[in-house]
Amino acid sequence: MDTSGRLGGMTRSFEKVGVVGLGTMGAGIAEVFARAGLAVVGVEADPDALERGRGHLEASTGRAVAKGRLSEAEQAEILGRVTLTTSLEDLADADLVVEAIPEVMDFKRSLFTDLDRICKPSAVLATNTSSLSVTGIAATTTRPGQVVGMHFFNPAPIMKLVEVIHTVVTEDGLADEIAALARRLGKTPVSVGDRAGFVVNRLLLTYLNHAAVLLENGLATRDGIDAAMRLGVGLPMGPFALLDLIGLDTSYEVMCVLFQESRDRRHAPAPILRELVTAGLLGRKSGGGFYDGDEPASSRADGKPSVSSVAVLGEGADEFAARLADAGFKPGYADDADVVVALSHTPVIELAAQLPHPSRLVGLHLVGDKVAEVASTVLTSPDATRAVEGLVRIVGRTPVLCKDRAEFVVDALLYPYLNDAVRMYDSGYAGIEDIDAAMRLGCGYPAGPFEMLDALGLETVRDGLRALYAEYRDPAFAPAPLLDQLVTAGVRSIRDLP
Ligand SMILES: NC(=O)c1ccc[n+]([C@@H]2O[C@H](COP(=O)([O-])OP(=O)(O)OC[C@H]3O[C@@H](n4cnc5c(N)ncnc54)[C@H](O)[C@@H]3O)[C@@H](O)[C@H]2O)c1
Repeated sequence: MDTSGRLGGMTRSFEKVGVVGLGTMGAGIAEVFARAGLAVVGVEADPDALERGRGHLEASTGRAVAKGRLSEAEQAEILGRVTLTTSLEDLADADLVVEAIPEVMDFKRSLFTDLDRICKPSAVLATNTSSLSVTGIAATTTRPGQVVGMHFFNPAPIMKLVEVIHTVVTEDGLADEIAALARRLGKTPVSVGDRAGFVVNRLLLTYLNHAAVLLENGLATRDGIDAAMRLGVGLPMGPFALLDLIGLDTSYEVMCVLFQESRDRRHAPAPILRELVTAGLLGRKSGGGFYDGDEPASSRADGKPSVSSVAVLGEGADEFAARLADAGFKPGYADDADVVVALSHTPVIELAAQLPHPSRLVGLHLVGDKVAEVASTVLTSPDATRAVEGLVRIVGRTPVLCKDRAEFVVDALLYPYLNDAVRMYDSGYAGIEDIDAAMRLGCGYPAGPFEMLDALGLETVRDGLRALYAEYRDPAFAPAPLLDQLVTAGVRSIRDLP
């Protein structure tokens, strides 16, 4: 048997590919290979499932025809390259088999044992698992060096990203060959070591879970947090809208797998996720989750705030005060104005406590040019908060009401995510460019975490993390040692490392 798998040092050619499981992902993956001109053998568990798989393939390519992206002749060619079967034995001469059956380790192990017996010795076996251990799957075969992860994103024909996962026993060069194959499919591969959640799910779900924890802590509302991340950071969706889209059950399960591996409290699913899932509120697919089928609310405090004098303190106060003066509000002094707006990126309670009327002070943190976080302290009156909410609308920003906590909402969510990316890079299982590409292509983010770090400034993020750590004492918020060292060394971008 050729255990080297390198075929005498030659590069493999992948011409015939098997796809096992033609559900949501498998049907799309089969289509991707067939579109690139490869012969595909699609395997399903039973004839009914096979017909459903055929239906997925026909419907998906049919949509492309309807949209004018594919001619009918091309559709026929693509479908003609796919052979459908319920027999794994038909994979005997496949060069590569991609598994896309349900995310249950026992199912995968049993399938890989069968594939190992049936497939030719040189065949590469790949799993599309989102969160299970590729190493654990590889270990069930007699060819662990030829087992990799090939993690497509949903919908596979459209999403450009493929995470190519190698394990500690993957043969040298194989991950590169799979990455080259992914390019041939028109995809952008990123190379990742075998850690739960790989790059995208690990970084994304941890951030989404953090948002759920902050919601449970009452830091801000669902709509406030969603608006903050969408408008303040430019993400395509807020965390709760995205959790509903992914499915709360899937999200909960991925968090459990992450926690199982890391035992990091940050990966422990927020209790609200478990509660919603247990209640059958799984997100969009069940008609309700964080959102009850409703659209993000428009809880607007309309009308002009009923205050006449406003004092504005802090950095940027003159400009903000001028905008309010233009709108007809009288400038006031901190001691006697109807409301006191303290522009600040840190909590304002200390300042409030020094005023004769601390109930009138509200913190304001401007985020980008669309959002203003409106921070109420334990002493702030609801009237003052409402007034400042109205003032923020008058200056053309979306107010996000929150508690007076370190880094308020956007930075409290963003900085730990960036810190996680630095730790991920530092632990050596994914590179900077790959992590950036994965988050851009896998999540539709406007920039990858390292691009965001460069734009925000390493020192700003490091200092923000220190403040978060001091406030919440969560070890995960302590700046990654690498980040701290870069700041100390005066390095401006992690890319500048030798
Ligand atoms: N759904 C996603 O968004 C997504 C994204 C990336 C990766 N994944 C991963 O892809 C895999 C498949 O997920 P999915 O959402 O497509 O699941 P799915 O339930 O839609 O499809 C699974 C298919 O596998 C078939 N199947 C089950 N056992 C089989 C067997 N022994 N032999 C042949 N076929 C069998 C089922 O009949 C079903 O059609 C999972 O590992 C999942 O984690 C899913």
